[in-house]
Amino acid sequence: MPNIPRPLLHLLPLLSICKSTTMYRATVLLVTLCITSQIASSVTDGLLPNGDFEQGPRPSEMKGTVVTAKNAIPNWEISGFIEYIKSGHKQGDMVLVVPAGAYAVRLGNEASIKQRVKVTQGLFYSLTFNVARTCAQEEKLNVSVSPNSEPRDWGILPMQTMYSSNGWDAYAWAFQADGPEVEISIHNPGVEEDAACGPLIDSVALKLLSNPKRPKDNLLKNGNFEEGPYVFPNADWGVLVPPNIEDDHCPLPGWMVDSLKAVKYIDSDHFTVPEGKRAVELVAGKESAISQVVKTTISKIYALTFSVGDTSNSCVGSMVVEVYAGKDKTQVPYESNGKGGFKHAKFVFKAISNHTRITFLSSFYTMKSDNSGSLCGPVLDDVKLVSVRNPRRHLA
Ligand SMILES: *[C@@H]1O[C@H](CO)[C@@H](O)[C@H](O)[C@H]1NC(C)=O
Ligand SMILES: *[C@@H]1O[C@H](CO)[C@@H](O)[C@H](O)[C@H]1NC(C)=O
Repeated sequence: MPNIPRPLLHLLPLLSICKSTTMYRATVLLVTLCITSQIASSVTDGLLPNGDFEQGPRPSEMKGTVVTAKNAIPNWEISGFIEYIKSGHKQGDMVLVVPAGAYAVRLGNEASIKQRVKVTQGLFYSLTFNVARTCAQEEKLNVSVSPNSEPRDWGILPMQTMYSSNGWDAYAWAFQADGPEVEISIHNPGVEEDAACGPLIDSVALKLLSNPKRPKDNLLKNGNFEEGPYVFPNADWGVLVPPNIEDDHCPLPGWMVDSLKAVKYIDSDHFTVPEGKRAVELVAGKESAISQVVKTTISKIYALTFSVGDTSNSCVGSMVVEVYAGKDKTQVPYESNGKGGFKHAKFVFKAISNHTRITFLSSFYTMKSDNSGSLCGPVLDDVKLVSVRNPRRHLA
């Protein structure tokens, strides 16, 4: 067998199909052809191929930690200043610890990583990946997919605020597939003096999102937050839904995050949630808001019910969830002992418009009582909106 470059090893099964000639050169050529037509993977719920970067460059494709060849990291195409980092790597007086496996990549100034994925055109997908900030400055990531029928359509995700206790946060971003195959790109648009600054990335996963229907007893979509981005089974820090995310890039179908800071998507495997398997945590006070716009009939009375609780993550104190329905507002206090619990709340309002925006936010900033300094807040779940036939019964 010819000496196959390491990045191609995962294509070995293909090689036997392609190796129809005995000439080495021809074989290599055919392999190359096979790669260009076969490299796009198809993932509907889980890690992308080599999404945890455990397969790395050959030593000859690295200079120190810097990756020197475009296709050196199997399944990925890189550009710019990319470092391949082993868990335990020391930077200054900081030891970098990788959440999944032993390796991660660091995106320096203007660096990007890309992977082609087979998708079903027209459907919605959500990306989830783990990120760690390495330098103190404001870091951002630019997430995009191509082809894209909308021009200038990418997500700039701010990494400024760290939410988890261990330095790693997971972020999610959604997109509609505008072709049968898309190229997913994560790019650091930064231009810092120190090229070794820039976020570390690990574990890139994809999930096909369904478009939840409004159930009979609820005017809201996905009111229980059961549909949402991929959550890593081995990560207990939840998934951040980034700020300023409109419907078409929001990985929580039906909802949008129209605030300056993220909201956290949590699951019952790692947190206490009031209902079902998933919920959201309003982690950044008034700066993290989640909302949904519903069709309403002017002068009709509506009842909004929901659960407010805590995730049993040492988030202790007096909390208040503010709820807006158009211009109407109410506040729901919740006393958290940080051990998991919840209460039901109800808000009755009269619609004054054809469309009413329902918004939830947390009045106060709360920090975990574990000395990590990480932000936390009340949990929201099981949100239902119904129109009320007999208002007197509800207003009483
Ligand atoms: C974001 O990435 C896309 C695709 O690489 C690029 O076209 C776009 O210019 C980037 N946007 C910013 C603001 O860096
Ligand atoms: C509400 O909808 C009705 C019927 O579609 C329309 O005539 C009216 O202009 C709308 N009102 C507002 C405030 O949008």
